[in-house]
Amino acid sequence: MAIRHDIAEKLFTLETKNTSYQMKVDDYGFLLHLYYGEKIEGNMDYLLTYYDRGFCGNPYDAGTDRTYSMDVLPQEFPCLGNGDYRTPALIIKNADGSYSCDLRYKSYRVFSGKYGIDGLPAVYADEDTVLDDENRVETLEIVMEDACTGIQAVLKYGVLPEIDVITRQVQIRNYGKTEVSIEKLQSACLDFVTGDYDLLTFHGRHAMERNLQREAVAHGCKKIGSMRGTSSHQYNPMMILAEPQTNEDAGNCYSMSFVYSGGFQGEVEQDQFNQTRMIMGLQEEMFSYPLDVQDVLDAPEVIMTFSKNGLNKLSQNLHTCIRNHICRGKYKNEIRPILVNSWEAAYFDFNGDTIYQLAKQAKEVGVEMVVMDDGWFGKRDDDYSGLGDWFVNEKKLGCSLGSLIEKINGIGMKFGIWVEPEMVSMDSDLYRAHPDWALTIPGRNPNRSRYQLVLDFSRKEVVDAIYNDICKVLDMGNIEYLKWDMNRSLADVYSAVTDNQGKVMYDYVMGLYDFLERLGNRYPDLLIEGCSGGGGRFDAGMLYYTPQIWCSDNTDAINRVEIQYGTSFGYPTSAMGAHVSAVPNHQTGRTVPLCTRSVVAMAGSFGYELDLGKLSEGEKEEIRQENRKFRKYASLIQQGIYYRLSNPQTDAVGAWEVVNEEKTEALVSVVMLEKYANAAVSYVKVKGLRADAQYLEENSGKRYSGSALMAIGLPLPVEPGEYLAYQMHFISL
Ligand code: GLA
Repeated sequence: MAIRHDIAEKLFTLETKNTSYQMKVDDYGFLLHLYYGEKIEGNMDYLLTYYDRGFCGNPYDAGTDRTYSMDVLPQEFPCLGNGDYRTPALIIKNADGSYSCDLRYKSYRVFSGKYGIDGLPAVYADEDTVLDDENRVETLEIVMEDACTGIQAVLKYGVLPEIDVITRQVQIRNYGKTEVSIEKLQSACLDFVTGDYDLLTFHGRHAMERNLQREAVAHGCKKIGSMRGTSSHQYNPMMILAEPQTNEDAGNCYSMSFVYSGGFQGEVEQDQFNQTRMIMGLQEEMFSYPLDVQDVLDAPEVIMTFSKNGLNKLSQNLHTCIRNHICRGKYKNEIRPILVNSWEAAYFDFNGDTIYQLAKQAKEVGVEMVVMDDGWFGKRDDDYSGLGDWFVNEKKLGCSLGSLIEKINGIGMKFGIWVEPEMVSMDSDLYRAHPDWALTIPGRNPNRSRYQLVLDFSRKEVVDAIYNDICKVLDMGNIEYLKWDMNRSLADVYSAVTDNQGKVMYDYVMGLYDFLERLGNRYPDLLIEGCSGGGGRFDAGMLYYTPQIWCSDNTDAINRVEIQYGTSFGYPTSAMGAHVSAVPNHQTGRTVPLCTRSVVAMAGSFGYELDLGKLSEGEKEEIRQENRKFRKYASLIQQGIYYRLSNPQTDAVGAWEVVNEEKTEALVSVVMLEKYANAAVSYVKVKGLRADAQYLEENSGKRYSGSALMAIGLPLPVEPGEYLAYQMHFISL
């Protein structure tokens, strides 16, 4: 059983294969967090200590007991205003203007299966999977109530024993007699009474996303987040807490990943008694959500996992969770088609024939799909106009969309198309007809970014109108792939139809999800790739609707090694759109061998982003071979267990590996990042093999023992040439 409740001890214990999570209801009805980590037995209540601490107040019910303080005890869902002065999960502004909420235990229920959340993405577990008692997915709901106002917080826990994942979510219900306002809402909180920790976060910028930063947790509060209306290039909505000695292969570590695509915050605080609090949820700024009597508000979900075997295992738990319990649809398990995208091939400068020629050349080298990127609709020859006008520019294409698709399908190629549904250009028919559909503040000049404005997706009629326009396009022919882009951050957040502007950012994301859900239901076979100027909205929320996301607008293979390294901490390779592009690279001007560009792009959802017509016969032949190679390895890459073998931020090589479940096949990829004359040899240790098995490396024909490959590793070639890359394919004998 994943969830146990001991009524006499008032204990709740959640168990996965390798982890335990425990909390208890104390004598006053508070819900205290006791433990999360390696699997343990027994009541962890003994961890709680009680001393009379100065300036740490006591709940009224504690009477003369001055040793009981919310400011010291570990909380499951801390609220502002009840004597805990650390960062809270919930701030409520009551009808009388006070900020207080005193949540006490009311009831609980356990049910089989994973809870879902209305209108929000969430981890799911297939109902039809028959699992034994131990591995059955279960949900625990604990209802907490503030007796004074009637506000309830329903804490939900989803337990997926097999993959060591526990999810958390909270629903706030107003069962009181007056409207209240929610000013801060976090989905998960972990309090640690003991331990030193490092915090690992993933910062970045456009075209250089998800760079790992590791720092020691110290006194004070460290906060990451986004106020951009998207999860953002700047901070990914995921963070890891690791003991200082934890590395890739050993040591305790915990993570939180937010299943949400809008503004978020993650905080880690070390308090006055060296205790640590980790907390994640909705962005606080510009959030003020009115909750009417009988209304409910759902916070998005947080995925938590713990590993005592280091960061690689932690990431593997997240990869499995996202691949099997977040991603949906036809392409959840199916190998995605190799595509060529027109963006870096032609930018805005194309017509129907350009796309057809690209498809023809792609066909010749074994690519399966051509994607027509930005520029095919409205008046759109640059990025100053046209967004919102989702009608085909037949004059520019020189044909109808339907006939172009037919021609492309006619040569045995699939067709995909780019859209940016959340946006409007001021120079567009849509904006001229509905200026109030854009987020702008009356009386102020709006902040423009890429010269475009954001549509008010918190309004259903706006979502409906754009949905209909996009469906009309998708119905024009056999469109098998859609790239859903989003190319600016929200600003001027003001909706023309509400008095409560503090709800607009949340409602915007709900509108986006509603659109994507409807699209997925109407076109179940459509492969949707998420994108936001590359990886500006790379999160578990989007992956519920789009099984892959364009990882970065940066296609430089060497930068990509770092970007994909950082991304791999929280997300599987199948989620990362990665393309081979032209050299010199359009973002960095660097020239890298074609083989290296392929090796790097094969660590993701593989494709191309260049004018194939400009390649030499030799290069075309190389691409043919790379595509054959990719097909051979595709299911291993998409479904295999992923290991980081180096840290490209500091090491001379970038190295990673995928191994199949049975450990009979492994693909090791290496990119040489540094070049010296008369260089020392680099060695790479292989991971996750069977120590007692012999392996054949297919390309060299050499044999190795699994134990040797894992204990000491392989010497890498020292040969002339910059940024060389190698793939080694091991098969057990
Ligand atoms: C964004 C995307 C690119 C491309 C352009 C088109 O920047 O990340 O891949 O689609 O938009 O305008």
